[in-house]
Amino acid sequence: LPLSQGDTWLLPACHIEDQPRFPWRGLMIDSARHYFPVAVIKRQLDAMALVKLNVLHWHLSDDHAFRLESLRYPLLHQHGYDQHYYTRAEVADIVAYAAARGIRVVPEFDLPGHSRAWLAAYPWLSCEPGPFLAGRKPGIYREVVDPSKEEVYVFLQELFTEIAPLFPDPYFHIGGDEVEGHQWNESASIQAFIREKGLGNNEGLQAYFNTRLAKILAGLGKKIMGWNEILHPTLPKDSVIHVWIGQEALLKSLHEGYSVVLSKGYYIDLSQPSWYHYAVDPMPAAGLLSPAEQSRILGAEATMWAEFVSPDSVESRIWPRTAAIAERYWSPAHVRDTADMYRRLEIVSRRLEEAGLTHERNRSALVRQLAGDQASAAEVATLDAMLDLVEPVKRYQRGTYFPEFTSYSPLTHMVDAARPESIRVWRVAQQIKALARDSRGLDKAGLAAVREQLLVMARTLADFDDAAARYTPKARETLPLSTRLQAALAEGIRAVDTLLAGARADEAAYRQSLERLEAAAKPHLALQFPLVPALRALLLCTGSQRVTAPDAEWQAAVDTLFLPPPES
Ligand code: ACM
Repeated sequence: LPLSQGDTWLLPACHIEDQPRFPWRGLMIDSARHYFPVAVIKRQLDAMALVKLNVLHWHLSDDHAFRLESLRYPLLHQHGYDQHYYTRAEVADIVAYAAARGIRVVPEFDLPGHSRAWLAAYPWLSCEPGPFLAGRKPGIYREVVDPSKEEVYVFLQELFTEIAPLFPDPYFHIGGDEVEGHQWNESASIQAFIREKGLGNNEGLQAYFNTRLAKILAGLGKKIMGWNEILHPTLPKDSVIHVWIGQEALLKSLHEGYSVVLSKGYYIDLSQPSWYHYAVDPMPAAGLLSPAEQSRILGAEATMWAEFVSPDSVESRIWPRTAAIAERYWSPAHVRDTADMYRRLEIVSRRLEEAGLTHERNRSALVRQLAGDQASAAEVATLDAMLDLVEPVKRYQRGTYFPEFTSYSPLTHMVDAARPESIRVWRVAQQIKALARDSRGLDKAGLAAVREQLLVMARTLADFDDAAARYTPKARETLPLSTRLQAALAEGIRAVDTLLAGARADEAAYRQSLERLEAAAKPHLALQFPLVPALRALLLCTGSQRVTAPDAEWQAAVDTLFLPPPES
């Protein structure tokens, strides 16, 4: 109840009609690449309940670790890259905690790929002698389970018989993604097995494996779910296909009679802004699916892959963006006003923090650590403000900036303290976009307001430079970034001044300015400047196209600058 109302709370008598659009509204948490203590998982369940998400998809095994205690096969949980795992009692506690909040828990044990931790424990599950070490770097590993060995199925029967009862949900996720098959190709006995059984190829072999898993799990009262690579005609029709690559896989799964859950477009580990995810609708465009097929889109899941998150940073990667995604899964499709979403998102973010989440508080602690003990309170605030101007690089670029990274590496760089998106910068960019789209007269008062904002940013960066000598080395190593950002802002301010003077840049000056902006826009230490598209738009306004192009063409040219880069 808000304090703003004093000690008297008035609740309007009203009638609320509301219902979820999709029955499956999930968050996937990868506890394999990094382990998250029980308290962290419970906080995510509290937050999920607040935003009406109802499925925790718990990714419990991968190349790096098998995180569930097994009594029958204890080497599994003992051979991860670190020593962490969830005990059976902890899992039961989490499942009960989730259920009390209306949340189902769907466990994932990824097979036959993403399984190096299994092979580290029991090398004979592979077709090569080993020994194997659990993974400690991001990426796809070559080692996979050998589906041609009968003892593999005995092992899985015993293991699943032990662990399936811990999870009352009818669905059990078997993974199935990114099996490249190099090991299978190189194994004469596996190739002979494929021929003997008439499986055709590796895909057929994986389908054989999945179908046997489905049979084992059916015997334990479970239906299977798996990443879209598991799609194959031999799979039971009550399986759920979890689509992470492409709309083609979504349509094909539905046409072939399966139910689907969608995660493509909801990969929150890729540091995309909320508006990007908010614009993705789980339901494809009208006309592509029959009503029966549409009804088999159960819902969707945001995925928190954990290569680059620690227990201290994971919450700032999940929240508040996942609240916007949760609304997409719950509300009618026509609820899509992005500006209003951001207005509400900032309020929800505070409510989440009040409910015990630590996405802001942990970030503040890291900002103070990065500033260090020599920095004054004002200098800590400057570092905080500087970080609010930047964002982590998007998609899978981060790894290229830290080539030595392993799962043991500390996640305490400036990029870890930067929020996945800066709503502050988004607001300024929106202001600039609205100004730039108007091809007739440019609004002088609006331009002056933008100029002031750009100057405030430049001042923050100058203050950062002044304080850098007292910051820690990790903060100081972003000095080149500050220099670049100031250069980029200078181009924007120059463009605004040109526009305020009612002038135009000649073609050569425009080109040179753009070149300087592009040089300044290069990311540094996995941090990028989200204002760059808006600065490009300001520069574009100083060219001749603004007054000569037809309105629609001009606006399209401006809008194009603000589109996310094409997916690789
Ligand atoms: C996946 O992202 N490999 C499912």
